[in-house]
Amino acid sequence: MAIRSIARGCGAYLPERIVTNAELAAKVDTTDEWIQARTGIKQRHIAADGQLTSDLAVHAANRAMEMAGVEGKDIDLIVLATATPDHTFPSTATTVQAAIGMSGGAAFDVQAVCSGFIFALATADNFIKAGQCKRALVIGAETFSRILDWEDRTTCVLFGDGAGAIVLEASEGEGPDAQGILSTHLHSDGRFKEMLYVDGGPSSTQTVGHLRMQGREVFKHAVTNLSNVVLEALEANGLEADAIDWLVPHQANQRIISGAARKLKMDTAKVVTTVSSHANTSAASVPLALNVAVQDGRIKFGDLLLLEAMGGGFTWGASLLRW
Ligand code: UT7
Repeated sequence: MAIRSIARGCGAYLPERIVTNAELAAKVDTTDEWIQARTGIKQRHIAADGQLTSDLAVHAANRAMEMAGVEGKDIDLIVLATATPDHTFPSTATTVQAAIGMSGGAAFDVQAVCSGFIFALATADNFIKAGQCKRALVIGAETFSRILDWEDRTTCVLFGDGAGAIVLEASEGEGPDAQGILSTHLHSDGRFKEMLYVDGGPSSTQTVGHLRMQGREVFKHAVTNLSNVVLEALEANGLEADAIDWLVPHQANQRIISGAARKLKMDTAKVVTTVSSHANTSAASVPLALNVAVQDGRIKFGDLLLLEAMGGGFTWGASLLRW
């Protein structure tokens, strides 16, 4: 029997402060109607002054560990996806490691922007399958509010802050019916870096910089790349789209989510959407959405989930996971 990573628990955290579209419309030249019609976003959560990415991540991690019935000392790997780390170094993962009382094992960050959680999940899954760890915390955590140009209406209305986490554990299983991660599929194409990037960084400008995006171009690539990677994941497991119980997509834009569901001929009732209340939380968006549907009882033991995301780089990926 092959080693397989099974999900033992999940958790999430959103900062208390909610910013509505109307509040943004008072600051930049936009309207609630435009934002809702073009993106589906109604509001976003924004971290308080001094509240760091690691603070959000620790809350999410503690909740995931509580559901899994484990403590920090039981974890031997943290893979944390973020594009908005507390500091250039050390990694945000090591800050979380200390905060949850985990002294052994390894902790590091991965950077794949909005696809970050899928990349982190794939990394942890491969460590588990290689026998290099037994129990991993996979976290997506972001404070995108800190890298937004609050005078640029084309980007500042789209993003929010938050964190989500999942506990993976080594088990045994084979085939699509067994619990756990069936497969992960990652892609990147660095030729498109100018379409979605931050115009600062330690080596280039010695500043943090602001997010810049050619939205329409990113949109087109997102629809194509996500459709392809989703089909790749299904094919790799000999499954058809009707086998999926829940699509848990990256939450960037309701129109992208609906497009992906249409291509799969999936009933929209089987798609978990949180973009209206969370906006785009980058690496946190998939685990935040997953957590909502687990907590409200939609996702049940044994359900087959398809997770997918696309982000700057470009990077994109998908994973099939039997909950
Ligand atoms: O998570 C990483 C991946 N990111 C994404 O997936 C984002 C992908 N892109 C998108 O979701 C969409 O392209 C956006 C939501 C960013 C934009 O929607 P769009 O339908 O592609 O609009 P557009 O960029 O073509 O802009 C249409 C118009 C423009 O005006 P003109 O040139 O037609 O006069 C914009 O200036 O809307 C204008 N506009 C706005 N108007 C009011 C752009 N932003 C705003 C705004 N409020 N906030």
